[in-house]
Amino acid sequence: MKISVIGCGVMGSAFARHFAKDHSLILYDRHPEKREAFAAEVGGVAASQMKEAFSQGDLILLSVKPKDLKSLVSEMKGIPLKGKIILSVMTGASVQLLKSYFPEAQVVRIMPNLGVAYQRGVTGIVEDPDLLEVTKKSIDSLMQGMGLNLWMPENKIDALIALSGSGIGFVLVMIESMIDGGVFLGFNAKQSREIVLETLKGAVALMEQSGKHPAELKLQISSPGGTTIAGLKVMEESGVRSGILSTLNACYEKALNITTSMGT
Ligand SMILES: NC(=O)c1ccc[n+]([C@@H]2O[C@H](COP(=O)([O-])OP(=O)(O)OC[C@H]3O[C@@H](n4cnc5c(N)ncnc54)[C@H](OP(=O)(O)O)[C@@H]3O)[C@@H](O)[C@H]2O)c1
Repeated sequence: MKISVIGCGVMGSAFARHFAKDHSLILYDRHPEKREAFAAEVGGVAASQMKEAFSQGDLILLSVKPKDLKSLVSEMKGIPLKGKIILSVMTGASVQLLKSYFPEAQVVRIMPNLGVAYQRGVTGIVEDPDLLEVTKKSIDSLMQGMGLNLWMPENKIDALIALSGSGIGFVLVMIESMIDGGVFLGFNAKQSREIVLETLKGAVALMEQSGKHPAELKLQISSPGGTTIAGLKVMEESGVRSGILSTLNACYEKALNITTSMGT
C-alpha cells in the first residue's frame, strides 16, 4: 500500500517508522528540511506539496495538531479521495467532523499513545458502521506490532486520552518522582533510574503473571507495622491517589473541551 503521512512530528514519525517496514511512504510536513530528512531516514519520498501527498497515497495519515486541521483542509481542496482511507490521530477531531471534510473517503479515527514508537503503544480505534470490512482489516493489519489495539465507540476516546494518550506522561512524572526520591536517599541518578525502572517492570510482571488486583498484591508486600505500610500511610495523607484521579479527570475534561471547540 502507498501511505502518505501529513505531519512528520512526534506521532507522525512514530507511525511512519512502523509503516515503512512493509509499505511505501510519501512524507509531507510544512517544514521542507523535516520531511526531507525524515524521508531519507525511513526510505520514503518527500512530497513538495501537500496535494501531491494526498493524491498519491492509498491511505493518508493525518498527524498535525488539531488547530492546524482547518488550514490543511483548505489547502487540499479539490483532490479526489474516493477509495482512499483517511487515518487520523488528531485529538478532538471527531469522525463526524472528519467525514464532513473528507466525504468521499473512508475515515478512521485512532487515539494512540507514544508507546507505539517502541511497539508498546495503546491505541483506540473508533468503531463506525460506515467502515467497510476491507478497511477494518487493513487497519488491523497496519497497526499490528504497535502494541495493544482496541476497537471502541467514539464516546470512549476522551477517556482513553486521559488514561493512556496523555496518561503515559503522568506515569513518567511518577517515575521521575521516584528517581528523585532515590537520589534524595543517596543513590546516584543512574543507579536510581535503573532501580526504579526494574521496580516498575517487576510491579507490571507481578500484576500480569499473578492476575491479581494491585490492592491484594500491595498487602502481600506490607508486613504488619512495617516499612511499606508506613510509606502507604503518607501516600494516603498526601492525597496521591485522589491527585491521580483528579489529574485524569482534568485531562478528560480538557479533551472534551477540545472536541467541543472543534465542532462536528
Ligand atoms: N504526541 C503524542 O503523544 C500524541 C498522542 C496522541 C495523539 N496525538 C495527536 O497527534 C497529532 C500530532 O501530534 P504531534 O505531537 O506529533 O505534533 P508535532 O510533533 O507538532 O507534529 C506535527 C507536525 O506537523 C506539522 N504541520 C502542522 N500543520 C501542517 C500542515 N498544514 N501541513 C503539513 N505539516 C503541518 C507541524 O509543523 P509546526 O511544528 O510548524 O506546527 C509539525 O512538524 C496531534 O493532533 C495530537 O493530538 C499526539
